[in-house]
Amino acid sequence: DLSPIDKAKFVAARRAVGYVENGMKLGLGTGSTAAWMVRCLAERIRDEGLRVVGVPTSTRTAELARQLGVPVTSLDDAKWLDLTIDGADEVDQGLNLIKGGGAALLQEKIVATASDQMIVIADWAKDVAQLGAFPLPVEVIPFGWQTTKALVEELLVSLDVLSHDVTLRMNGDRPLVTDEANYILDLHLRRIGNPRQLAMVLNQIPGVVENGLFIDICDIVIFGHSDGRVTVRD
Ligand code: A5P
Repeated sequence: DLSPIDKAKFVAARRAVGYVENGMKLGLGTGSTAAWMVRCLAERIRDEGLRVVGVPTSTRTAELARQLGVPVTSLDDAKWLDLTIDGADEVDQGLNLIKGGGAALLQEKIVATASDQMIVIADWAKDVAQLGAFPLPVEVIPFGWQTTKALVEELLVSLDVLSHDVTLRMNGDRPLVTDEANYILDLHLRRIGNPRQLAMVLNQIPGVVENGLFIDICDIVIFGHSDGRVTVRD
């Protein structure tokens, strides 16, 4: 028996997998909701003989796909994708997202951008009026990361944001290292007034590789609810 939140993730994932057609090249997202999507996809492959190939956005998702018999390839091999299905940490009314709670934002953004369409799947709790309660993940190069962190803090002060506490994401007593061998800074902003501007200026800082704001990338959001209903925003 599923918990209410898992039920919501599952029904959203199942609905999204309904969009998948024979022959599609798919971006496979990362996280607990995206894992439901990989399971639903594996089921359609097994039961209907659906032919697809997936490009995973993390080593975790690659492992799960292989375990469940979902064929995978690299983005360089696939070149362009028909559809990416991924989770998110927050979604606003304009389909802007915060992603990266699972530290996979860099590959996720590359893969979603290389897709004709991106569908986000989420439980109802991720639907927000304004982004920013969830700390914004920013992937940085390890070289000089403390200098990069100071530059990010200065930028936040200059933008007059409400709160500009920045922390290095840890894995036990060491910095968490991403699949691309970088670090993650979490920006505790509480509210992001202008996500489009923030996404652009953060990436101007030399040590910043990418940030977790997804602007104009997502096309459809499917929210799952604990009673098994889904709502679609596009
Ligand atoms: C991974 O880096 C993230 O972008 C995930 O997509 C996000 O954290 C959602 O994860 P859950 O589905 O586990 O909440």
